[in-house]
Amino acid sequence: MSRILVTGAMSGIGAALTAQLRSDGHTVLTLDRTPGADIVADLSDIAAIDSAAARIEGPLTGIAHVAGVPGTAPPAVILAVNTVAPARLNHLLEPKLADGAAIVIVASVTGHRCLWPEPQVRALIEGGAQAANAIAATVDGVEAYQISKRGALVWASMAAAALHPRGIRVNAVSPGPVETPILRDFEASIGKDRLDAAAALTGRHGRPDEIAEAVRWLLSRASRWVNGIELKVDGGYHALRSA
Ligand code: NAI
Repeated sequence: MSRILVTGAMSGIGAALTAQLRSDGHTVLTLDRTPGADIVADLSDIAAIDSAAARIEGPLTGIAHVAGVPGTAPPAVILAVNTVAPARLNHLLEPKLADGAAIVIVASVTGHRCLWPEPQVRALIEGGAQAANAIAATVDGVEAYQISKRGALVWASMAAAALHPRGIRVNAVSPGPVETPILRDFEASIGKDRLDAAAALTGRHGRPDEIAEAVRWLLSRASRWVNGIELKVDGGYHALRSA
């Protein structure tokens, strides 16, 4: 029997993924700060993460870490929700993961704008909330978002290596701009001009179901030989921008 945890399931990409997984016949456990989720928890709060993890019953055959906040949130919250929370939640849930489980984190192509060397990003992940708060005091929201998504990418490789002995795979999906409520916040943080320029390059913004399809595949047996990768699902934005 498959049981998959989806965070950020009450909106956008997480909601689309939940619908797809349920239509495939999976049991989906939803976690979100928004009432209506199976587990209502604020992932910016360490105590809430710990309490949520304690309430989640195993075995889980998959986890999709989709919850995220944009660059308009305070830097400490951005680093907490986008990097520290998935790493901590995943760690706490390890004993409840079935061998052979699949894990996916939704990062962002924006993570590539963070030019930090990998050891510095690893220090953030390993330092948890304390490290995140120290960094948050030195950066604005836009930079915090870039760092947080690079953190998500580096975490995925670290977790893939750590969980490989149990046959547990960990991959990352990096969207470009996607038509979800968070896009309005991106307009406020990085500017509508930059988003319009991205849409001009690729022809349009992505749709939540298009990102969810990639996560769904990485959670499935069809991707069983794929581990530790970043799958960009951005209509070619990253390549076109760099060309
Ligand atoms: P969204 O705003 O529609 O959904 C985000 C979900 O995360 C919401 O259900 C929200 O309640 C939940 N969430 C936020 N903070 C939380 C917290 N502290 N505790 C628990 N739940 C929390 O946005 P969207 O687009 O579906 O975002 C999903 C992921 O995709 C995020 O990680 C985002 O950074 C990433 N992403 C989105 C892009 C876009 O253009 N929409 C582009 C690149 C990455």
